[in-house]
Amino acid sequence: MREQLLAAEKVKAIEWRDGKLHLLDQRLLPREETWLAYDSAAGVAEAIRQMVVRGAPAIGIAAAFGLVLGARARLAEGDADWQVELEGDFTVLADSRPTAVNLFWALERMRERLQRLKVGENPLLALEAEALGILESDREANLTMAQLGMELIRKHQGSPQNILTHCNTGALATGGFGTALGVIRAAYLDGLVERVYADETRPWLQGSRLTAWELEGEGVPVTLNADSAAAHLMKTRGITWVIVGADRITANGDVANKIGTYQLAVCAMHHGVRFMVVAPSSTIDMGLEDGEDIPIEERDGRELLDVGGQRIAANVDAYNPVFDVTPADLIDAIVTEKGIVERPDAAKMAQLMCRKRLH
Ligand code: MRU
Repeated sequence: MREQLLAAEKVKAIEWRDGKLHLLDQRLLPREETWLAYDSAAGVAEAIRQMVVRGAPAIGIAAAFGLVLGARARLAEGDADWQVELEGDFTVLADSRPTAVNLFWALERMRERLQRLKVGENPLLALEAEALGILESDREANLTMAQLGMELIRKHQGSPQNILTHCNTGALATGGFGTALGVIRAAYLDGLVERVYADETRPWLQGSRLTAWELEGEGVPVTLNADSAAAHLMKTRGITWVIVGADRITANGDVANKIGTYQLAVCAMHHGVRFMVVAPSSTIDMGLEDGEDIPIEERDGRELLDVGGQRIAANVDAYNPVFDVTPADLIDAIVTEKGIVERPDAAKMAQLMCRKRLH
């Protein structure tokens, strides 16, 4: 399966090349494939804020390279206090988006690497290797999760399934080819998927612009639906699994993900549809007891009020939280590269985090 998955890999959204971070501009997809190059920490932070790059693991990877760029600039200034100055770049990058914990996890890994620098070691090479390591380990995690999630689908239902997914969790959102979408890809290659239903994912349209584009490009049968059609689909279209990603999973198994995920989990429970969350362990925040304390990003109301830069709504304010929290007791399985937690709770999450990665 690993080889099959690697052979099916088509889309890439992040490249570290010629000392710059190259990002596929996700604001323009699928209309236009434009790559932008970044050579500063502040530039990368702005790219994350503006969602040139998005998706929890991809944000973390971009931030790690942003830190490399910051360190390069500080070292070029020749200041003996460059590590103190670099704190400014840590802050700028950490302030770019609040919900996906992968961002803070990646910055913490970069900080730890700095603290482990040996006398005479080249700090820039060490930081670059660390960022590349974060990218590579995310890719490996995707492969492991794809296999595990696919086996879970096979275990519960052997014949081809109709699967519903939300937001974009594919190659565009990770260093590899996806978390939830990686599982869906693997299941498709294994003959377990009849059709994927992609929620359009209002208001930023990650589903209709990104997920539909990725799946269509690989020949996976995909149908787009309005977010509000999800319950109806569960009732009438034989959906057997809802499979989503995550931006932060707390110590008790609560899951923050794209706004609309929570209502999908409630509807799935009502209709007896299984609910799977797929995320690398870098998305798990054992420092938070439960989902109550997860910071939920609110974005500009214009994302709701306007379409294509044109005002469509009446003259009112808009409330635009872009993530919500699904309680652990609505989740059938959390799939990570360390293994699967079925019916998550605090004890099972703690056990999972003690395990080694499976690859
Ligand atoms: O606002 P976004 O597009 O960054 O939100 C992305 C999501 O909510 C994804 O489901 C999540 O990050 C998992 S991506 C592998």
